[in-house]
Amino acid sequence: MENASINKKSYNKIVDDWAKIRNNSAVNKPIIDFLEKIKPNGDILDIGCGSGNPIAKYFSENNYSIIGIDFSEKMIEIAKSQEIKNSQFIVSDFFDFETDKKFDGIVAWDSLFHFPKERQKELYSKIYDLLLPNSYFLFTHGKKEDEHMDKMFGEPFYYSCLSRNSVLELMTDLGFELEYEIENFVEENTTRDWVVLAKKISKT
Ligand SMILES: C[S@@+](CC[C@H](N)C(=O)[O-])C[C@H]1O[C@@H](n2cnc3c(N)ncnc32)[C@H](O)[C@@H]1O
Repeated sequence: MENASINKKSYNKIVDDWAKIRNNSAVNKPIIDFLEKIKPNGDILDIGCGSGNPIAKYFSENNYSIIGIDFSEKMIEIAKSQEIKNSQFIVSDFFDFETDKKFDGIVAWDSLFHFPKERQKELYSKIYDLLLPNSYFLFTHGKKEDEHMDKMFGEPFYYSCLSRNSVLELMTDLGFELEYEIENFVEENTTRDWVVLAKKISKT
């Protein structure tokens, strides 16, 4: 569905409202738990990092190195303007992102549900390849297979996801092990349908 490309335009338009909200958001508990699993001073990739606040900032304050990628130029502009130490923010669609680097942890907080439905499957193998053995992947997700449009701050947004079972099957086949999953995670009056922390198992 080409509607996924609408998101970039829409995020560029609502960036100020978005940044305001995220400047006043607490760091969610799963983000804090995730970081406790990552080796000190490790490298973290933040997929769909938005304004860099509060997630990338929190990682940096705890002495981790962060690469944040987002296809919204305006989001990356804001993220860069915060001068978050040990961070690099890159304008890139996740599917075009290339690096030789491997990460100790990858976070995709509220971003995977914007990816095109027909490309949802391939993102897990790409993430798997970007991770070091025995490293962690934290993400939020819907629970049911879905594809729809919605509005935020008056702008249109595209959403899609696979079913919970398909995602778990894909991940298990690749070599991920589930650390935990939370359904209907509520914090600060915001609900995430499904929060997942998975570990890439070393195949050696
Ligand atoms: C709901 S926001 C979440 C931002 C951030 N993770 C946070 O917690 O504030 C989703 C972000 O994902 C980005 N995004 C959506 N699809 C993307 C893609 N294919 N590649 C890179 N970034 C994408 C959007 O531009 C947006 O900044």
